[in-house]
Amino acid sequence: MTQAILREIIDYANRADPYPLYEELRKTPVAQDGDGPYVVSTYYEIQSLLHDPRISSDRRNVSSTAGDPLAQAEEDGETALPPAFLGLDPPEHDRLRRMANRPFGPPHSPHRVHDMRGELGGIVSGLIDGIAAKDGLDRIDLVDRFSYPFPVSVICRLLGVPPEDEPRFHVWADTLAAGLDPDPDADPSQRHKGSQDTRLELGMYLAGLIEERRKSPGDDMLSHLATADGPDGTMTTMEILSTSALLLIAGHETTVNLITNGMLTLLRHPEVLQRLREDPGLAVPVVEELLRYEPPVQLLPQRSPLTEIEIAGVTIPKGASLWLILASGNRDPKRFENPDRFDPDRKDIQHLGLGSGIHSCFGAPLARLEAQLALSELARRLENPRLLEDPPPYRQNAVLRGPRHLPIACDGIRP
Ligand code: HEM
Repeated sequence: MTQAILREIIDYANRADPYPLYEELRKTPVAQDGDGPYVVSTYYEIQSLLHDPRISSDRRNVSSTAGDPLAQAEEDGETALPPAFLGLDPPEHDRLRRMANRPFGPPHSPHRVHDMRGELGGIVSGLIDGIAAKDGLDRIDLVDRFSYPFPVSVICRLLGVPPEDEPRFHVWADTLAAGLDPDPDADPSQRHKGSQDTRLELGMYLAGLIEERRKSPGDDMLSHLATADGPDGTMTTMEILSTSALLLIAGHETTVNLITNGMLTLLRHPEVLQRLREDPGLAVPVVEELLRYEPPVQLLPQRSPLTEIEIAGVTIPKGASLWLILASGNRDPKRFENPDRFDPDRKDIQHLGLGSGIHSCFGAPLARLEAQLALSELARRLENPRLLEDPPPYRQNAVLRGPRHLPIACDGIRP
């Protein structure tokens, strides 16, 4: 039964609205059918597993992926993220995350994200100006024109990629994103090769940049990672490579989808859009509620128990594949009142949209700032925006879910 629902969740036909399927899943908080993965769909159970040290994020600990509809693609190298700290357990995870965090966030770099505010605002303004310059206003694809290019530019600035190389990064990010979004009709060997070639090119480019930064460091993340020599020692070139590729991949598609899901939701709730236009400060609760209501990461399919565990009356064996459906937990009526209502005035929005526990989103402060700036500026500057297709066409990906295009029209662009 559950497996049938899992197939339906993966089925593209349900991409625009998977929420009724999640409601069905929550009737059995922890479920397995046949030899498929164990699926956890309720808020408190997901929270508890995200904080459980017996749960591994390292795919190498999964003993069998038979019956797991996503794992087969991953074994082909299609959906696998680079073997960086996202896919590692303590102590390796903690060491690499601490080292990556030193130049990024508190306590050592409390100002990094805040100091990017002006630069981010400049990118947002430039992209919105570009919409006016490039397109007629009667059909704008907000994904291609805005949501897609924005986060890649931000990651480039964060890492310290020279502006003239940014276009190459956009191409690599596109190809890697396509690898995360397998087209079921494409020839698997070609897809695999495209993705591998891109990884190689990106790796070689970053290796060159790391060498340069070692010789003459600046204040960017790559320079700091390349020259780090703190209590955790130094990072090897491979570790720097996989960490920076992780930042690129984890920070790209997710942010694209948050901004696009955000505009889609605001256009479906014009009263909230109007309030945001009048009060940019509302962007803070709007973004939090979006992370609950339409989370860009719908599920985490790469956990597994290091030992037999029991949860919600179900015994899950060591090495079983475990899926945590964050988007379902976010709509659990046992946790949130009127969970299917988009309501930025909620008093308590402790959502699962950025994960929880030791792997909770590393880039969260940056992701929040990007989405807040993007949505408040789009609300302020687009005159009378309206959706041209509802629902819009979605990407294939069921894990990193969001529209592939968001066609809108507007009457003008305010300065
Ligand atoms: C709206 C945008 C974003 C969303 C929804 C999001 C969501 C998530 C989620 C759910 C996780 C937990 C994964 C797990 O537990 O296995 C995660 C981890 C992570 N995120 Fe984000 N993310 C976003 C943006 C970013 C950005 C901008 C960056 C980089 C600057 C980033 C870097 C990471 C990294 C490195 C991890 C792994 C953390 C670890 O394993 O310790 N994310 N993210």
